[in-house]
Amino acid sequence: MNMQAIESIDKLRLVLGSLRVGSVVGLVPTMGALHAGHGRLIQQARTDCGNVVVSIFVNPIQFDDPRDFQLYPRDLSSDLEFCRARDADIVFAPTAAEMYRRPLKSFVDVAGVTEHLCGAFRPGHFRGVATVVMKLFGIVQPDRAYFGEKDAQQLATIRRMVLDLSVPVTIVGVPTVREADGLALSSRNQRLSAEERRVAPFLYQTLQLAGGRISAGHRDPREVREEALAVLKRPEIRVEYLEIVDPDEMRPVDRIDGPVRIAAAIWLGSIRLIDNLLCAPA
Ligand code: PAF
Repeated sequence: MNMQAIESIDKLRLVLGSLRVGSVVGLVPTMGALHAGHGRLIQQARTDCGNVVVSIFVNPIQFDDPRDFQLYPRDLSSDLEFCRARDADIVFAPTAAEMYRRPLKSFVDVAGVTEHLCGAFRPGHFRGVATVVMKLFGIVQPDRAYFGEKDAQQLATIRRMVLDLSVPVTIVGVPTVREADGLALSSRNQRLSAEERRVAPFLYQTLQLAGGRISAGHRDPREVREEALAVLKRPEIRVEYLEIVDPDEMRPVDRIDGPVRIAAAIWLGSIRLIDNLLCAPA
């Protein structure tokens, strides 16, 4: 089937109405600026589903910083090529006016799981994410939806929302794709200066170091955290947070007795990078 690019909610519903009969619909929600990490999500959806819908929408209500929204990279024509080359069936790329036809009065708040980590530093961010994802689920009505593990708190939030609100969709988490030096792929990486790009892999290296301590049997999260923070202490890096959390609840643990996620956010100049590592004591 030739890929269709659709801007209108009504047209998308019409097209999907006939396609979905007897076929599994997979949704890959994105904000565009597609890279190999998104490629992995589309590839997984292609393997699992008869119909693959990729949504491209830079969602204004999840940006806590208007400048970040303004500067977010946008290149729809190359994104469409990217999706076509990966055999997507439909790209749903609405305008903000189409998605938010009237001032929004209904929002989805997922408590608890959004309290720490990015939730503590980006007020309203997860509310914006959960609301737009719920809206996309309402529009596309996918059987399966694909999200990257790099955004672990986002993934945990959406899993919780789907459970709490009985949304009939299977959420699939897809492993992070990394550059050869370990840097997690992100649309924001293209805004790093050469010097910032050189320093950026320290983030994952530090997570690996902390993960190694946990695998080696260290049970006190404070000790592991302090050690990791000491490694990240460099003039080019400003650490926003580094926490060792329960992988479902996304809240800091007092003791490492089972699997945990080490999650961190750092700033390199004006660019914010996040990453995380799932690990367990031996
Ligand atoms: O991860 C993203 O790109 C966005 O947060 C998402 C899930 C597409 C919602 O806008």
